[in-house]
Amino acid sequence: MKLRQLIFTLSVIGLFHLPGATSQNKMTLDFDHATLTINKNIYGHFAEHLGRCIYDGIWVGPDSDIPNINGYRKDILEALKELNIPVLRWPGGCFADTYHWKDGVGPVENRPKIKNYFWGGVIEDNSFGTHEFLNLCEILGADPYVSVNVGSGTVEEMVEWIEYMTSDEDVPMANWRRENGREDPWDVKFLGIGNESWGCGGEMRPEYYSDLLRRYSLYANLYGQRKFKRIGCGANGTDYNWTDVVMSRAARHMDALSVHYYTIATGNWGNKSSATDFGEELYFSALKHSLHMDELISKHSAIMDKYDPQKRIPLMVDEWGIWTDPEPGSTPGFLYQQNSMRDALIAATTFDIFHKHCDRVQMANIAQMVNVLQAMILTKDDQMVLTPTYHIFNMYKVHQNATYIPVMLKCEDYKFGNETIPALSGTASQKDGKINISLSNLNPNESKTIEVDLEGAKVKNVTNAVILTAPQINSVNTFENPDVVKPEHFSDFRLKKEKLSVTLPPHSIVTLEIQ
Ligand code: AHR
Repeated sequence: MKLRQLIFTLSVIGLFHLPGATSQNKMTLDFDHATLTINKNIYGHFAEHLGRCIYDGIWVGPDSDIPNINGYRKDILEALKELNIPVLRWPGGCFADTYHWKDGVGPVENRPKIKNYFWGGVIEDNSFGTHEFLNLCEILGADPYVSVNVGSGTVEEMVEWIEYMTSDEDVPMANWRRENGREDPWDVKFLGIGNESWGCGGEMRPEYYSDLLRRYSLYANLYGQRKFKRIGCGANGTDYNWTDVVMSRAARHMDALSVHYYTIATGNWGNKSSATDFGEELYFSALKHSLHMDELISKHSAIMDKYDPQKRIPLMVDEWGIWTDPEPGSTPGFLYQQNSMRDALIAATTFDIFHKHCDRVQMANIAQMVNVLQAMILTKDDQMVLTPTYHIFNMYKVHQNATYIPVMLKCEDYKFGNETIPALSGTASQKDGKINISLSNLNPNESKTIEVDLEGAKVKNVTNAVILTAPQINSVNTFENPDVVKPEHFSDFRLKKEKLSVTLPPHSIVTLEIQ
């Protein structure tokens, strides 16, 4: 082991203090171990037939007065393209296990109107179906991730859908697709075998689900000609037994396993608390709950290691984000919530955690894309507003498919009452001769200075620096004031040789590009 590696390892476990470390806050980049890639799919999204995510949010139909391109909102497409969205999950969520895909193809006027039983009991007219989704993915340059109906569907329904979407042969479903206006198959990479099968996807036990996974996976492979990454339905948060049972019984029959974890500020699903009306106590507890993602991934990953030590099977966090009470006055069941500076910090620190676990975490899909839960964009009629979370996705996109640089972060605590969390979070990656560093200050009351040790990097300049902060922890962007929380040019740093010193204002996130 080289001396530098040894020092790094010892300092990580607290047995060695780097000489000359004057600041209490120090992040050291370990270039010697920069071997893994941050899969761009960690920056994935999720769009469900829920509330106003699809309808109003993405799709208004070609006859709408709202400016659109073949039915997709023009403003939303432009904003989403900016994010380099790598992968998009659809049609649910809970909706997926009630969805029968044939309802959503063919002439729109012939498509049946059905009831969306899970989400508000509204009438779903199926005007957004398979073609509309897969064409959207092509427009965005995103890989489609289709969740198939295991809860109330059949294997037959799934394999017909697979043929419809992906076959270029003279077979009935591919021919029906051609009749419906699409000659070439789409390139569908990811197939979810059920969603939350332990809950809204069928209330199954992991033993029973494992058998279904084996069965659906076999035919998905056969009809999909082994093109798909088949994603097994994973655990509800900390249900480690689910992971253990599914891995022990069906590891060979999947190409990835998912997990869902939502941040609930109160820790109480029955009383989640407001997205905007909160003080420091709920700010702190929301961050604390979201940082739990680190332990959650470590524990699921350790279980997966038992059955898959080579890490062939990635973990896909295909639903995550903060879930609050819906906005007062919004339709119950639509899960429409505002998005604050607090949520930007949740997004940034969660990405830091995903990067840290990039050996196992190969995809994540924030819930959800537009108008639902921790959304990128909110819409009202023909208006739209970009949320603080959108800005984090934009600032962090530099890390997509970059080489992860492991970091050792020693920092002060942020204390509230009797509890503490780290005051700072950070991550680093390199791509195209540039190093990108992202840093967050979680403390809402004090600025923090951090020294970043870049030894071995041969850097000359900070070539770009951007900050996201806001007047208050609960500042939001509204239709009236859309730019309260928006990225600004940042200059409070100093680079001297291989030492970078950065001062972060309270509740802020900074991304620096260094060459
Ligand atoms: O994202 C909202 C819902 O949360 C999804 O439909 C479901 O999978 C989860 O419980």
